[in-house]
Amino acid sequence: MAVHPVKVTYHGHATVSIESDGYNILIDPFFTGNPAAKIGPDDVKADFILVSHGHGDHVGDTVAIAKRTGALVIANFEIVNWLGNQGLENLHPLHIGGGNTFPFGRCKMTIAHHGSSLPDGAYGGNPGGFLLKLNSGKTVYFAGDTALTYDMKFLAEDNVDLAILPIGDNFTMGPDDAIKAVDLIRPVTVLPIHYNTWPYIETDVKAFQDRVIKEADAGCIVLAPEESFLIP
Ligand code: NI
Ligand code: MN
Repeated sequence: MAVHPVKVTYHGHATVSIESDGYNILIDPFFTGNPAAKIGPDDVKADFILVSHGHGDHVGDTVAIAKRTGALVIANFEIVNWLGNQGLENLHPLHIGGGNTFPFGRCKMTIAHHGSSLPDGAYGGNPGGFLLKLNSGKTVYFAGDTALTYDMKFLAEDNVDLAILPIGDNFTMGPDDAIKAVDLIRPVTVLPIHYNTWPYIETDVKAFQDRVIKEADAGCIVLAPEESFLIP
């Protein structure tokens, strides 16, 4: 399999775009009401939208962006049903432990320990994360909102190039547990997310970056909103 560059753009909070083989994969698109966002929901490209769980800071602008772009939305069965009730038709349900092959590569839903109720109080199923085996040859793990889980150790077998991990504490792993997660997953590079958006999750990201490099023997890239990098 040929390796092509994969561009990752951080939009602030937990919103990330992955550009691989010409496909734009938008994860947890939260722009409206996101204090960290520098662009709006009309400014982003999407061929696929992945939603990790039902909380408002992750479902975010999914409905509006999917309507505008026609993107295929991939989420758990319950969220997909809810999105169908909001008028979306291009939907693909997955559930934890299950994966499917899409034009960009394989996407498997992974375990997350968290909640998943939808903004209107509807049941959002279990929260998850995503393991993406991109056709470009890169493997990306997007943890979603989660506590540290020992199941992350299985991911060490997947040769993860980039692990996108929450580090903000309070609602998810904090820096100490995120370092343990890096030890379990053994990715080449870590991208920290879900920090500094609100006072509850204020975090010293530079200190975390230093710890990843020194203690966990992985690379760590810190991006400001709308900054991008190519997965090494
Ligand atoms: Ni959440
Ligand atoms: Mn969240």
